[in-house]
Amino acid sequence: MKNFHEALLDSRSILRRNPEWVSRGWVDLEAELLLCAAYRQMTGVSLSRIQLFLQMQDPYPQKAWDYLLELSEQRAQGKILQHLTGFQVFLDHEYEVGPDVLVPRPETELLLEYASNTLSSMKYGPILGLEIGLGSGIISIELLSQFPQLKMIASELSPAARARGLKNAYKILGEDRLLLNHLTILPVQDPLEVFCPFEGEMLQLKADFLISNPPYLSSHDLVDSEVFNYEPHQALYAPEGDSLYFYRVIAEEAVKVLKSNAFVFIELPHNRALLIAELFEKRGWRVKIQKDLAGLDRILIARLGAWNG
Ligand SMILES: C[S@@+](CC[C@H](N)C(=O)[O-])C[C@H]1O[C@@H](n2cnc3c(N)ncnc32)[C@H](O)[C@@H]1O
Repeated sequence: MKNFHEALLDSRSILRRNPEWVSRGWVDLEAELLLCAAYRQMTGVSLSRIQLFLQMQDPYPQKAWDYLLELSEQRAQGKILQHLTGFQVFLDHEYEVGPDVLVPRPETELLLEYASNTLSSMKYGPILGLEIGLGSGIISIELLSQFPQLKMIASELSPAARARGLKNAYKILGEDRLLLNHLTILPVQDPLEVFCPFEGEMLQLKADFLISNPPYLSSHDLVDSEVFNYEPHQALYAPEGDSLYFYRVIAEEAVKVLKSNAFVFIELPHNRALLIAELFEKRGWRVKIQKDLAGLDRILIARLGAWNG
């Protein structure tokens, strides 16, 4: 039987066959993550990268080694790392992910940071929030973890993503919270629908905020081949090739479902941030744009009332 160190070397040598991994300097880290994931999936025991370094000379189970080689081969062929490990850590929680949902991105942590800071400064705290496009659930679940009184109503087009988001919610928030209807997930029948699911009986009360990381690519946008080949296109591409579709509909129609001083928080494609800010301003919203860590315009916060009201 191999030890952990030898298994790691085997994984590295498979990943090195992909020149992109070598040139980006990803081989060592990815081999460690795959080794921990294969061990966890085959033994049911979690293993952190630190624990891995403490037990390099211990035997690495044969079943886990066979699986590690399979995962490493798939990764060398370009399959997304998180689809192989089965999860992505986002803020304080581990989210199950797969080909049916967008892998959570670091930019979305910023969206949550700005939303949380703004909502924390509300006098009575947020009671009801809406999310368009639940995906793995990161946005609604993180906000529900942070604000105990909050209820979220989220829409999602893909049935598989709805199931994945709900599973993550049960795991992270616990059954009690869901039995008390803290998270409601509404199905969407048509990619062009944005507010229909929220209208009617579901929304007798108006919401304190709306948040979204909507699909915003057009077919002309350049995308990594890995993302194009393996991530769900309905999470990436806006309907009808109109990359501003969700922003326009939200700027025009969000007032129907929001309180008069409510907030809108949305992630932006940085190259269209100014166009999107204009769309909101033309419809009477006050707008702030926040930059990401690379200095690119990334988050839009909009409000109809005064900022400090
Ligand atoms: C960019 S992903 C964001 C997922 C998740 N909120 C996140 O930040 O990782 C957009 C999500 O919106 C969903 N979606 C696409 N069109 C939709 C629509 N018309 N209404 C609701 N959800 C939609 C996609 O299936 C996808 O899960």
